[in-house]
Amino acid sequence: MKPEDYMTREGKYGAHNYHPLPVVLQKGEGVFVWDVEGKRYFDFLSGYSALSQGHCHPKIIRALKEQSDKLTLVSRAFYSDVLGEYMEFVCNYFGYDKLLPMNTGAEAVETALKLARRWGYRVKGVASECAKIVVCSENFHGRTITIVSMSTDPSSYLDFGPYTPGFIKIQYNDVEALKEALDDPDIVGFLVEPIQGEAGVVVPDEGYLRACYDLCHARNVLFIADEIQTGIGRTGKLLACDYENVHPDILILGKALSGGVTPVSAVLSNDEIMLTIAPGEHGSTYGGNPLAASVGVAALEVVRDEHLSEKAYAMGELFRSEIKKINNPMIKNVRGKGLLNAVVTEPHGGKVAWDICLALKENGLIAKPTHDHIIRFTPPLVITKEQMTEAVDIIRETFALFT
Ligand SMILES: Cc1ncc(COP(=O)(O)O)c(C=O)c1O
Repeated sequence: MKPEDYMTREGKYGAHNYHPLPVVLQKGEGVFVWDVEGKRYFDFLSGYSALSQGHCHPKIIRALKEQSDKLTLVSRAFYSDVLGEYMEFVCNYFGYDKLLPMNTGAEAVETALKLARRWGYRVKGVASECAKIVVCSENFHGRTITIVSMSTDPSSYLDFGPYTPGFIKIQYNDVEALKEALDDPDIVGFLVEPIQGEAGVVVPDEGYLRACYDLCHARNVLFIADEIQTGIGRTGKLLACDYENVHPDILILGKALSGGVTPVSAVLSNDEIMLTIAPGEHGSTYGGNPLAASVGVAALEVVRDEHLSEKAYAMGELFRSEIKKINNPMIKNVRGKGLLNAVVTEPHGGKVAWDICLALKENGLIAKPTHDHIIRFTPPLVITKEQMTEAVDIIRETFALFT
């Protein structure tokens, strides 16, 4: 089959959700992927930051294979010999009392919202059905009805109503807006992305997260960090909140928690919050399955043992400094932290970000635009200096075609 045949078939039988770049992949290893014709590409999307440990990391794949020969599912109707070990490991890794295992990012966000509401009623003492959660403009937390109810992006929420009530939307990166919102005593939580990924890698002002955290604590409101995209080394620290020494009351993780191998997400918190949900009041058939537990431990060990946070920090500095040197009419701005980066473009000669991504693909590097004009550059954190230099050369040469 030719690449076109694969794309036609996927387009015919697959319903829409994303808008894929026209490349058909067959194999991945480290920072590279290969298409069905054997052409190699740098993967600068990394499964939307899930593949931080690189494609098919041998240690993670070994954990998957070994566990899949033994036991794959118990649905927490029974105990397994690996789940407790995984949960202990992750709690110690991030400094929390308890972990609630889920599968996708959206499910973990939903779980965090439920926990915050529950805590609001059972601990804070908010009147029944009155709890509210503050969220930010341009947020992206997933695709469920409740999550799109929090969205300010019409392409996420339009014509999916009626929406879930109980959310107050404020401007991102605006401490005063949060201060005002917290005057409402029914607020139980503030949900925030430390850097807004899908919005186009929007980095808030220094001190924003700390100020929000302090405000939340002064008002007895939970600070809930969605680190599904920013967490686990991506921004150059284990958590993006670490830049401001903020320890979220509720931490939401996903994506790189499995290194792109199986859907694994988690909510972490302390006993006061976690114990408000009693046995039988929340669940997931696959949440905490033995495969996820084994893969999760291996994925986090790789991040620790291969110093991926530190590598992401160093390679991110290199990436931004090199890209900022490129003088091109389509490059408006380069921003990011660690290896969560974006180039903001503007149209030139009838060409837009999508055209650049197509040209990058031709030259051996795949990346995707978000919001039409922003190209995200988020390679696996295992990228070496030599590989980064080669990738930057491809980006530089590709932009040179658009002058
Ligand atoms: C910050 C953030 N939260 C939540 C999600 C949703 O994760 P999932 O696609 O696994 O449901 C994403 C996905 O991109 C994300 O970036």
